[in-house]
Amino acid sequence: MARFYVTTPIYYVNDAPHIGHAYTTVTADALARWHRMCGDDVFFLTGTDEHGLKVARAAEANGITPKEQADRTSERYRQAWEALDVSNDDFIRTTEERHYKATAELMQAAFDNGWIELRPYEGLYCVSCEAYYVESELDEGMTCPIHHRPVEVLSEENYFFKLSGLSERLLAWYEDNPGAVTPESKRNEAIGLIRGGLRDISISRTSIKWGVPVPWDASHVFYVWYDALINYATAVGYGSDPERFERWWPAVHHLIGKDILRFHCVYWPALLMAAGLAPPKRIAVHGYLLVGGEKMSKTALNQIAPADLVADFGVDGYRYHFLRDQAFGPDGDFSYEAMVSRYNSDLANNLGNLLARVSTVVERKCGGVGPAPNPDSHLRAVAAEVYEQASHAWQRIAPSEALEATWRLVREANASLEQAEPWKADPGPDVDAVLGDCLEVLRLVALLASPALTRASQEIWRRIGLSSDVTAQRLPEAAQWGGYPGGLSVRRGAPLFPRMTA
Ligand code: ME8
Ligand code: MG
Repeated sequence: MARFYVTTPIYYVNDAPHIGHAYTTVTADALARWHRMCGDDVFFLTGTDEHGLKVARAAEANGITPKEQADRTSERYRQAWEALDVSNDDFIRTTEERHYKATAELMQAAFDNGWIELRPYEGLYCVSCEAYYVESELDEGMTCPIHHRPVEVLSEENYFFKLSGLSERLLAWYEDNPGAVTPESKRNEAIGLIRGGLRDISISRTSIKWGVPVPWDASHVFYVWYDALINYATAVGYGSDPERFERWWPAVHHLIGKDILRFHCVYWPALLMAAGLAPPKRIAVHGYLLVGGEKMSKTALNQIAPADLVADFGVDGYRYHFLRDQAFGPDGDFSYEAMVSRYNSDLANNLGNLLARVSTVVERKCGGVGPAPNPDSHLRAVAAEVYEQASHAWQRIAPSEALEATWRLVREANASLEQAEPWKADPGPDVDAVLGDCLEVLRLVALLASPALTRASQEIWRRIGLSSDVTAQRLPEAAQWGGYPGGLSVRRGAPLFPRMTA
């Protein structure tokens, strides 16, 4: 059995969840669901990143302790994911005991291996990034290239991670693992950062207390990123259950936004090497979801809460839009109008109409009993091709292509109905043939779209008379043409996706 460990970034608790965070999380969820259907042993992790100056300052601004700030916001993330049917197997918080233990153990290993040492440091710090910059990396006016805010001068004695000494090993790892970072453009960007020359990096602070203590020197805490990255190891037993860790590591697929590429594609593999562990199997990087052409941010006041869109489109409409319309990789502009139009065309018209027409005509012409599909149907070959395409697309982390392929079946089934016009014909074998094929298509689409349409897929399943659970089906067997047995009661119901007006 293949193991599939998938992670999202752990989100900062200074701010509420928005559709950008939800984008990564829903994509990871859809992948986890697909792999579960494939019979893989899946572990899906998300969580919150709770230390660091940014969180401490947000707490101060809210007049509460950092821990209270973390408790509150972490809970909001949990609720947001629950409301989007996110099926994570664990939710890690970096303030948990297990994470302190794992961080201490991993960093101690890197220290014992000689990769960490104490040095004085003065640097230019962006609080929003929780990262130091050198002057040449900054924009005009000494502002952060990501947040466009002025950096601050911080000076302290820090523990340094001797990253520069790992350049060769990192490059060799990239060379040996061409698929480790995707897409290709991001892999090249990471290699470029390494070739450009890596500096040793400061990984601890004495100036703040809100962090994980350095195990060999209690006057320091780790600088937030250097505990945060370790969450991925903590959650599968590092520092507590070595056997479990062995089972899952390094079969991990990290999904991240391009804002945190450097940390995941350079620092994280290096840190793992320093601790004597294997780098991750895969890091899949996606672009930004832009609102009005800009990255969402607290300062731009352009953040959209997932719940606001769920209120209009439902959970399925929400998930379908982001998985189908926002390709994983490039930046994409979010627009409400585009969301309405995709919802209407794919869900209300194509899929919704197919279900409504088939169930109505089965009731009128077949006494409400669904006929079996034709083994020689022309749709059989289409279904086989669609499955191949969808399956490859999910493997490549291209949900938009997987769903696009899947909808070809919907369109072809609608076309065969329009050609046969069973609603005008007398009951008999011809009517049964086309309806049986369409019922089979509905079964297949419910199955293949279930990673996106968590609710509608089960409802379609029920309406065409199947009593099992869609998520209990196993691929590739369940995707074979002919799985719909026929002879089942087909139920009509309210429109699955009522048409929306913009
Ligand atoms: O960086 N478009 O947390 P964070 C697409 N705690 N994705 C977006 C997005 C947008 N406009 N905005 C945010 C951190 N994201 C660290 C991570 S991991 C060990 C520590 C998503 O709350 C995207 O996945 O700033 C991005 O990488 C992540 O949220 C940043 O979340
Ligand atoms: Mg951020």
